[in-house]
Amino acid sequence: MRMYDLIHKKKNGGALTNEEIGFMIKAYVDGDIPDYQMSAMLMAIYFQGMTPEETASLTLAMARSGDVIDLSAIEGFKVDKHSTGGVGDKTTLVIGPIVAACGCKVAKMSGRGLGHTGGTLDKLEAIPGLKIDISKDDFTDIVNNVGLSVVGQTGNLAPADKMLYALRDVTATVDSIPLIASSIMSKKLAAGSNGIVLDVKTGSGAFMKTVDKSIELARRMVEIGEHAGVRTIAIITDMDIPLGNNIGNSLEVIEAVETLKGQGPKDLTDLCISLAANMVYMSGKASLKECEELVRDSLYSGKALDKLIEMVSAQRGDSSVILDPDKFEKAPYSHEVKAPRDGYISHMDAEKCGIASMLLGAGRETKDSILDYAAGIVLKKKTGHKVSKGDVLGVLHASSKDLFERAEKTLLDAYSFTDDEVNLRPLVLAKVDIDGVVKY
Ligand code: URA
Repeated sequence: MRMYDLIHKKKNGGALTNEEIGFMIKAYVDGDIPDYQMSAMLMAIYFQGMTPEETASLTLAMARSGDVIDLSAIEGFKVDKHSTGGVGDKTTLVIGPIVAACGCKVAKMSGRGLGHTGGTLDKLEAIPGLKIDISKDDFTDIVNNVGLSVVGQTGNLAPADKMLYALRDVTATVDSIPLIASSIMSKKLAAGSNGIVLDVKTGSGAFMKTVDKSIELARRMVEIGEHAGVRTIAIITDMDIPLGNNIGNSLEVIEAVETLKGQGPKDLTDLCISLAANMVYMSGKASLKECEELVRDSLYSGKALDKLIEMVSAQRGDSSVILDPDKFEKAPYSHEVKAPRDGYISHMDAEKCGIASMLLGAGRETKDSILDYAAGIVLKKKTGHKVSKGDVLGVLHASSKDLFERAEKTLLDAYSFTDDEVNLRPLVLAKVDIDGVVKY
């Protein structure tokens, strides 16, 4: 087989066979196919697309290119959740404990944030002492005993995806639906759970800017998961507005804890209940409606908060900060950003809010940036709110006053105003599963 012939076939709109895709991925990982040929292939895929069969073959070839995690030593239904990335998205910290309190097992590998989106690992590391690089045996024991553990992705999970993602990043081929779907699902399938709930974000802070594109991506991912024998449901959710009020690592842990105490912001709470109910439903425990009741009970009874405390202790973190979030280290400086006019907030650019938080030190500009866990933004007003000139839109937190100027400008740029009242679209916009698409 020659890579040249495969590029030629794809360029002309042909469908690659399972064998051809398997050959291409293995040879690329082994260093036998150079980047320039793989770049040409990615661009051909970008323009010609891939059939569902090709996308499934590509996903499985990438999933099998490295470690495939064996979770068989963990008893019960193992359920995973993936978010396509957003701003202020601390759902894993809320949903994991809820689902574990409902009797499912969450053996989760998470990643770090880059650019305007945050990563669960960075948020977890804001908890003093918490270890995210524990041994496989400890991970298994914690999931068996507590029901939940969140750790860093092993270095060798889907290495083909890591190589291809880096190449896509520099060849303008990231935003291709079959390539995104196979990239996300290769890591999820290699991580070994029995069920996956995908939170596919749509809007200004997301990869996919429109609901239709998000549904298309969700359909592809559901097809791939079910084809591989893993129950998969995707929920399409709004990311035009940052989720919750806090952006930044410690600030997001604090908000997650408030939510687990039943005192979180409504948007975050509602989304967590919806995603968690679908995760429990997948395990076959009860109907979706009954699962929602189970989820509400585990949240409002405090059982889910207890699970987070147990997990933090098991991973050697200081659980006293969860009991008393005031103990989190605070940023030494804060600065209020004020509304420049009277009116209603008509739109927020979630990506710009994420960038403002990154400029304060909460996110990474490059892979090697050092994070300031205490830095970030607490939003006081969001889309739909009525404001008067001078009202506080958000409070910036940072280690130096010098960081405020650029962050303030970026945050103000994220807000648009109007004189008329604003109707908000629902947070959960659609659901995609093996039976099809339901729009809300
Ligand atoms: N996240 C991934 O893991 N891969 C993509 O291609 C896009 C988002």
